Order: sequence, then structure tokens, then C-alpha cells
Amino acid sequence: MRAIVVREFGGHPQAADMPTPEAGPGMLKIEIEAAGVNPFDQRIIDGFLDGKLQHDFPLIPGVDGAGRVVGIGPDVTDMEYGERVVGKFLNPPLGHGTFAEYIVVPATSIIARIPDEVTAIQAAALPTAGITALDLIHAAKVGAGQHVLIVGASGGVGSYLVQLAALAGAHVIATARPDDTDRMIRLGATEVVNYGRIPVTDSPTHAESSLLTVADSVRITLPAGVDVLFDLVSPPPAFADNASVVKAGGAAYTTTWAADEETLKMRGIRGGNFESTGGAPELRELLRDVGNGDLVVPIDNTPPLEAAADVIGASGARGKTVLVI
Ligand SMILES: NC(=O)c1ccc[n+]([C@@H]2O[C@H](COP(=O)([O-])OP(=O)(O)OC[C@H]3O[C@@H](n4cnc5c(N)ncnc54)[C@H](OP(=O)(O)O)[C@@H]3O)[C@@H](O)[C@H]2O)c1
Repeated sequence: MRAIVVREFGGHPQAADMPTPEAGPGMLKIEIEAAGVNPFDQRIIDGFLDGKLQHDFPLIPGVDGAGRVVGIGPDVTDMEYGERVVGKFLNPPLGHGTFAEYIVVPATSIIARIPDEVTAIQAAALPTAGITALDLIHAAKVGAGQHVLIVGASGGVGSYLVQLAALAGAHVIATARPDDTDRMIRLGATEVVNYGRIPVTDSPTHAESSLLTVADSVRITLPAGVDVLFDLVSPPPAFADNASVVKAGGAAYTTTWAADEETLKMRGIRGGNFESTGGAPELRELLRDVGNGDLVVPIDNTPPLEAAADVIGASGARGKTVLVI
């Protein structure tokens, strides 16, 4: 089968012909039509889980994938041939991922049927980023009238998070580069902070040298601060600065493990370093929302499988990149 592989940790992704796997007991074989790309794919390639989980080389990366069931293990009873499914497949040993024509996964994986109204490309864009966004909304208990600041809003997780927070009735402040401002508003943001590009004065002499931080810029319109911060990108110092605009009693979450949780606690702020733990129920909820038209799948780019090397670990996301197999 056609697949993308790396031959060592840190290796360059390249196209390869790999043996087609078959479904044994308890397993499902899926013909992958579309595979979502996430920053985590590059981290796995770089060896982030080396020593924690077994890896098989040549390693096929890819966690998110959508397609049809074409093989069912002898003891699997609740799945039918031809069923359209999507999943988040991070099953050890790693190296048998979704950037390939076929994948074999345990029937107990995070997997859900795709409703008729949802395409395979849309479905493949949902698992990792969508589940994380939904988990964050649930964890922070985002509610109507709250002010929610989302840093890193233009990427995969952020493009779902803006919509889910707006659906919950929150007033959403999203960071984005100037070229992405309109898209953030269409997704439901009420304010957009153009990060790194905010001159403190109108004077051309000061415009380059003095830039407002995201926190400074939020304080201009909201001196009392925000109820919730979701920070999807910042290293520790920038996270601490962003968290400085969260009101006491509010919540601040980072998906990049940038929080000093003791400091947050001392200020009476909930949250901290966040790990997504959602599974099939959350994936089904997202698929329902997309099928009903309540949630837009923010597709940025749909390159063919063979172009995987150009998009794995790439910066500049404007929503989701999905490989078409
Ligand atoms: N802990 C967990 O359970 C969990 C789960 C999912 C994801 N994550 C992590 O969460 C992060 C975000 O994931 P993702 O899928 O949304 O990534 P992504 O699709 O690559 O999006 C990141 C976005 O942030 C923007 N950005 C970069 N630097 C920024 C800055 N200083 N201020 C504001 N925006 C900035 C990027 O645009 P530009 O490049 O144009 O600036 C891009 O649009 C990743 O580190 C991922 O590994 C963690």
C-alpha cells in the first residue's frame, strides 16, 4: 500500500510502498480516504514518545483518519463492512498510522460512524483538534456572557474553540494575524487581537519599536479582564503574561504545558496545564454538530498523501490540513 514513512526519529517523511495490514481478532481494517494533520504528528516523528511507547520503523505517522471499514476481526460484532468511520488512532506500537491507504486498529479505539451529511475530509479534520476544543469548553465550563480570550485561535484547535465558545454564548476575543481577522469574525469571534502587530502609538517612529502585548491590548477594551483564557501556543513567560488578564475566580488553560499552576492557584484561577482526554462520545457530539450545520469544519488545505512532507510540522495554520489519500 502507499504510505508516508520516516525511517528514524527526526527523519524526513517520504513516500514508500508498505505491506497492507490485515485485521486479526478484535481489530478493524479501514481504507483511509482522508487523514488530518496535527502538530503532534511531528512530535511523534521527533521522538516525543520514545521510551514511553513502543515504535515500529519504518514508522507511518498520522493519528486522525476517516474512511470505510474493509476488514473485521472474527470476534468484532458491532461494525459492518463498508461502514464510514472516523477515529483518533494513537494505539501502541506506534508507527502504523493514518498517513497510508489502510490502517488496522483495535475495535475499541476512539472511533465513530460518520453521518451521511459529513464528508470524509470534514470528518478527518475533527478528532484531535475538535475533541481538544470540546474538552477545553467542558473543563472551563464556558457559559453565556463570559469573556473568553483564545490565543492561537487561527489553528486547528483554535478554529473549533472560537466556534464552540461562541455557541456557548461567550464573548470571544481571538488572536490572529491581520490576514485572518475576517475568518475569525465569521467563526464567531467578537474581537480580534492581531498578535505582534499592534503599535502603541500612531507615530511611525514608535510603531516598530513599541508593540502592545496581547494582554495589554485586551486591557484596553476590558480593564476588568477576562473570565477564561485558552492559550494554545505560548511558552511559559508569554502564558504568564496572557494569564495576567484573567479575573480572580476565572480559568486559564494551556495546551502546551506552559502554566505555573501554583501561581495560578495563588491568584484564585482554575485550570493550568491541560491534556485532552475526550474520546468517542466527544467525537460523536462533534460529528452531530457538523451534520446539523452548527459547527463549521475549518479546512485550510487538502494536499494529496504524497505531499505530506510539506505539511507535517508546518507553521501558519489557518484551520485544518487534511491529506487526501
Ligand atoms: N495538550 C493537549 O491535549 C493538546 C491537544 C491538541 C493540541 N495540543 C497542542 O496545542 C497546540 C495547538 O494545536 P493546533 O492543532 O491548534 O496547532 P496549529 O493548527 O498549528 O495552530 C497553531 C496556530 O497558532 C498560531 N500562532 C503561532 N504563534 C502564535 C502566537 N504567538 N500568538 C498567536 N497565535 C500564534 C499559528 O499561526 P502562525 O504560524 O501564522 O503564527 C497557528 O494558526 C499545539 O502545540 C499542539 O501540539 C495539545
